[in-house]
Amino acid sequence: MNTKIIGTGYDLPAFAADNNYLATLVDTSDEWIVERTGIRTRHLAKEETTTSMAVNASRQALERAGMQAEDVELLIVATISGDTETPSTACRVQAEIGANRAVAFDINAACSGFLYGMHVAEAFIRSGIYRNALVIGAETLSKLIDWTDRSTCVLFGDGAGAAVLAATEETGIISQSIGSNGEKWEVLECQGRPNGNPLCEKGQELKYMTMNGQEVFKFAVKTVPLCVEDAVEKAGIGLDEVKYFLLHQANKRIIQSVAKRLGQPEEKFPMNLDQCGNTSAASLPILLAQMDEQGLLQKGDRLVLSGFGAGLTWGACLLEWQK
Ligand code: UT7
Repeated sequence: MNTKIIGTGYDLPAFAADNNYLATLVDTSDEWIVERTGIRTRHLAKEETTTSMAVNASRQALERAGMQAEDVELLIVATISGDTETPSTACRVQAEIGANRAVAFDINAACSGFLYGMHVAEAFIRSGIYRNALVIGAETLSKLIDWTDRSTCVLFGDGAGAAVLAATEETGIISQSIGSNGEKWEVLECQGRPNGNPLCEKGQELKYMTMNGQEVFKFAVKTVPLCVEDAVEKAGIGLDEVKYFLLHQANKRIIQSVAKRLGQPEEKFPMNLDQCGNTSAASLPILLAQMDEQGLLQKGDRLVLSGFGAGLTWGACLLEWQK
């Protein structure tokens, strides 16, 4: 049994912070951010939460799929910024949308989270255990960021994207290539809550996200082309037969470098990072849903989705659009 995407949705916070706004917080400039990253604005949550955005994205995806929430069998949220340590964001979304028959859990694979979610969902659907899945990437990264650190605070944004996956006799997901390298965990990390038990030092500081940007950059431009090529080779097709390469929206220069290494024209690499920044696990499903909404995807189009992030983690998924 194959797996196809039958609906997509997304949600962004109302407030869009442009680069000039960030220049009022840290020593940076619109010129530096645009030149080094391609980002112009990012949406930041005020009233919105990871759960509320995931719920809105899910409702839209289910509506576009023509599916009722109570028919969802598997509900996965990829996030590193849930509203509660426990329960999972997935359980909170399940309750809000009324997906009361679903098995619900979260996945923590940072910016590769949505691809990891697709990987898990596809395996369950292919095995026949579930007939469908709602896979969501949702993040409020703005709460993990040190707003005095200009090397990170200009990069990230908040948002959520969702996709409904269903069993099909048609072609859908064709091949995947996915990996992790825990030895490099310190390159991009955010410590959890400090331990306040009676044995531990009192008043430990809450830590924010830290990143070695250049290390992540080098890792991305090396690993993404390899996993994209691997996924495409596994399918026995050529890169030229892929219509769009949807890459994790972290940095325009990373996307341009991957396009060059793959020998593919930049027009095949859609971007929304100028408007959304890096929304981690939400980045790919937001981009996919926006392209779907704009009518850019035709039945039979071959798409590659590929991401990379903390862990380190990475992945690529080749699929044929069947909506
Ligand atoms: O989802 C995965 C998440 N992470 C990523 O994808 C990050 C990948 N890495 C990158 O995108 C880039 O490495 C960055 C955009 C983070 C940084 O760009 P860079 O070209 O690698 O800059 P750099 O770190 O080499 O810094 C160059 C200079 C430094 O100043 P000096 O030492 O040359 O005087 C930085 O202090 O730019 C300075 N700088 C800034 N200046 C203005 C760093 N951040 C800023 C800033 N505004 N926001």
